[in-house]
Amino acid sequence: MYAAISLFVLACLTAASHADHHHPCHAPNMTGCMTVINRKGEVRGYGSFTYDSMANKLRFRSNESHPANTSLGLDLLMFFNEGIFYEIDSKNQSCEKKALHCTMHPLDIPNDAKSYGIINSGNPSIEGEGLKLNIWAGSMRGVKGHYVMSATMGCLPLSSLYFTESTSFIISNMDVELEIKDPDLLVVPSYCQGLPVEETPEGTVHSFLNEFM
Ligand SMILES: *[C@@H]1O[C@H](CO)[C@@H](O)[C@H](O)[C@H]1NC(C)=O
Ligand SMILES: *[C@@H]1O[C@H](CO)[C@@H](O)[C@H](O)[C@H]1NC(C)=O
Ligand SMILES: *[C@@H]1O[C@H](CO)[C@@H](O)[C@H](O)[C@H]1NC(C)=O
Ligand SMILES: *[C@@H]1O[C@H](CO)[C@@H](O)[C@H](O)[C@H]1NC(C)=O
Repeated sequence: MYAAISLFVLACLTAASHADHHHPCHAPNMTGCMTVINRKGEVRGYGSFTYDSMANKLRFRSNESHPANTSLGLDLLMFFNEGIFYEIDSKNQSCEKKALHCTMHPLDIPNDAKSYGIINSGNPSIEGEGLKLNIWAGSMRGVKGHYVMSATMGCLPLSSLYFTESTSFIISNMDVELEIKDPDLLVVPSYCQGLPVEETPEGTVHSFLNEFM
């Protein structure tokens, strides 16, 4: 986890010198593990994810054996294209259906992201000693802030840094596999079906990122 952070920081320092003008790539279907750490060093989330890149659907379930304060028991099923998401409690089989106000998330590089070019971390010419990364950056939507994302040449997002006025955090992806291992995780559970969308309290913004702020 910490290796991924230092790799990323290093990447940021050296990225600016190789600017080119690619269009953002889009990640494939993935199953993997995600951590969220804020600028105080608190682990805000740790768990497994399943991502359908075509339908832009994401399931995140926090790992009970690595409790993190905010995400303890967090189980999210996000439908970014539809603008809704479910907070699932599979233990008591209950669900909350909510409106999404911001569709930005750490597995999708926004279409208007600006490329900062390709960097070599470590030594890519020695097997297992390096990684070639594409760096992307842009402004956040809805809140004042910006992001920096890195992705492999095959468009697997490695880490995303978000900086807002009130906080900043880093989201890292690990143990990524290029398939949806359990498609059922992307299906709305029967006990969540037919629920009305809950009203959003005034001043609340719902997004994937906000779940960890
Ligand atoms: C991703 O997964 C979805 C749902 O299983 C499937 O319809 C789609 O074809 C997959 N995309 C790729 C590129 O494999
Ligand atoms: C939770 O973490 C443990 C230990 O790292 C791992 O073996 C397990 O597969 C994880 N479970 C999920 C659902 O991510
Ligand atoms: C959770 O929050 C409490 C109180 O703020 C703190 O003492 C504890 O270290 C935190 N735990 C984790 C896993 O971040
Ligand atoms: C399910 O559990 C959560 C927290 O454990 C609680 O907030 C919620 O009210 C429960 N729902 C039902 C239907 O019991």
